[in-house]
Amino acid sequence: MKIKTNISQIRFKYKKESFDISNANSDPFKQFIKWFNEALKFKVFEPTAMTLSTCKNTKVSSRIVLLKGIEKKSFVFYTNLNSRKSSDIKNNSNVAAVFWWPQIGKQVRIEGNVKKVNKKDADIYFSTRSRKSQIGSWASDQSNILKNRKTLLSKFAIIEKRFENKEIKRPNYWSGYLINPILIEFWQGRDNRLHDRIVYKKNNQKKWKKYRLNP
Ligand SMILES: Cc1cc2nc3c(=O)[nH]c(=O)nc-3n(C[C@H](O)[C@H](O)[C@H](O)COP(=O)(O)O)c2cc1C
Repeated sequence: MKIKTNISQIRFKYKKESFDISNANSDPFKQFIKWFNEALKFKVFEPTAMTLSTCKNTKVSSRIVLLKGIEKKSFVFYTNLNSRKSSDIKNNSNVAAVFWWPQIGKQVRIEGNVKKVNKKDADIYFSTRSRKSQIGSWASDQSNILKNRKTLLSKFAIIEKRFENKEIKRPNYWSGYLINPILIEFWQGRDNRLHDRIVYKKNNQKKWKKYRLNP
């Protein structure tokens, strides 16, 4: 089946403003926050959703996770430490993540390596989740084979009963990761596919250097 490319006429109806080295913030995190706020303003659906790629030996896999904060000069997401992505990360801590904000025609690519969020911060974040989500974290053996949905629902009900009128503690196998970036690319869609691409790369002195790429 051929995919009809005239969809792109609908796709590129956003403001194609110019993005240049001269107006890119010297701090890529500040630049990210500026674009993220724009994504919020233009009501991008799920603006915190990022595609996260991990690699175990020679096999690469991707999935979406939600950005939960920018802390310690890192991008934070939460997950199950027994999941496939976590197993990949144990093998290889290098990851890549990408955001696509269609309403403002912007893409942000991140490459870096991850380390685990400390237990205290994970506890604090877990405590902000809804009770049902907390129970869900206990009930789901993420990425492992599940016989059927009924099994999951009955596990959820058992855990709900177990924690009745009690505070729900964070499971040890549920926590977050900090992506410490070594490269962040900001991509602004422009007319005629002459898009703007500004890359920030950390040099050996851990200072950010900016350069422009061909689209
Ligand atoms: C919009 C959206 C947001 C998601 N957010 C998360 C998240 O923050 N953490 C997470 O572990 N999985 C999240 N998921 C589910 C993952 O995409 C994935 O199915 C799950 O983490 C298992 O991935 P793995 O088997 O590669 O480890 C999200 C999925 C979608 C579509």
